[in-house]
Amino acid sequence: MKLNVLLLPGDGIGVEVTSEAAKVLRHVADAFGHQVSTREGLLGGVAIHKTGNPFPDETRELALNADATLLGAVGLPEFDHAPPDKRPERGLLGIRKALGVYANLRPVRSYRALLDSSPLKNELVDGADMIIVRELTGGLYYGTPRGISGNGAEERAVNTMTYTRPEIERVAHMAFQLARKRRKKVTSVDKSNVLENSQLWRRVVSEVAGEYPDVALDHILVDNCAMQLVLSPKRFDVVLTENLFGDILSDEGAVLAGSIGMLPSASLGAKKASGARIGLYEPVHGSAPDIAGQNKANPLGAIGSVAAMLEYSFGLSEDAQSVYGAVEEVLNSGCVTADLKPKGKPATTSEVGDAVCEALSARAASA
Ligand code: IPM
Ligand code: MN
Repeated sequence: MKLNVLLLPGDGIGVEVTSEAAKVLRHVADAFGHQVSTREGLLGGVAIHKTGNPFPDETRELALNADATLLGAVGLPEFDHAPPDKRPERGLLGIRKALGVYANLRPVRSYRALLDSSPLKNELVDGADMIIVRELTGGLYYGTPRGISGNGAEERAVNTMTYTRPEIERVAHMAFQLARKRRKKVTSVDKSNVLENSQLWRRVVSEVAGEYPDVALDHILVDNCAMQLVLSPKRFDVVLTENLFGDILSDEGAVLAGSIGMLPSASLGAKKASGARIGLYEPVHGSAPDIAGQNKANPLGAIGSVAAMLEYSFGLSEDAQSVYGAVEEVLNSGCVTADLKPKGKPATTSEVGDAVCEALSARAASA
């Protein structure tokens, strides 16, 4: 198979984790007989530096023409006070919208080897395995009117939370279809005791559920969900929620996995003529400028995102399983970065990437 992949390393540790993830991608392709061709583009702070725009037109073209895009992270502290359209994050919001990737899948699971990396009690975390389906192209992130106006005591800021029925329906379908391949349970998260927006969300999700009688649906308020995630994480299978709630809950979920550096994500849009979905793949963590360029960052979120790409964009489930298996082996071997608090000396970013490649080679040789 031919895999045309666009790499957008972005800012901070995005650069080093994307480089390890691309190494793993090339390695899988070699081992399983695919041809990868990669191109590289600019997004975020680095794009502002080189072009003045966080999401240059050239990047848009590259992304629209690639089979799939692998992104590192965006964000640099020097832009903290920049106007909204000159901020790295605008680049990320821009590419998500341009590709129409409305469903952001964020698997959150515990790993036996990492139980002690989580501050939560082992028995609480052990066996937790959920996937957060975050709506990604609507809600407060994109709603208008938005902005800050006036001066002094008259100064005010406004953001708008909007969802239309079709926006809720399509992401809900995605969640129910995923649930069918898992433990057949969807938990929809909202704030319907206060927000009209959530009332529509709950009503539409319940209607969509009617088409999936084999999947159980429950609803939970977002504040309670935040508590249940750390009190009884094993009750969750597929967690379906809107954009901002999903952003917040997925960082919280990272505590179950031992470190946010572990979390991959897949952002999926419409189906293309080939039947494959448009896909943007990125680790959940940010650009972590404080440790950037030091070969310390955990590349496993980015490497997991490559596995997700193989699965969702290329339909290569077996190849994806090999990557997940290789990652698990590396975790068991204790070769992990500092964020996972290893007992011995922490491994570097590139050592972890190399270890995943070696484990993959061993698997391919024995297959
Ligand atoms: C994420 C990030 C982004 C988001 C930021 C960098 C804009 O936090 O992907 O979770 O809020 O979506
Ligand atoms: Mn986030």
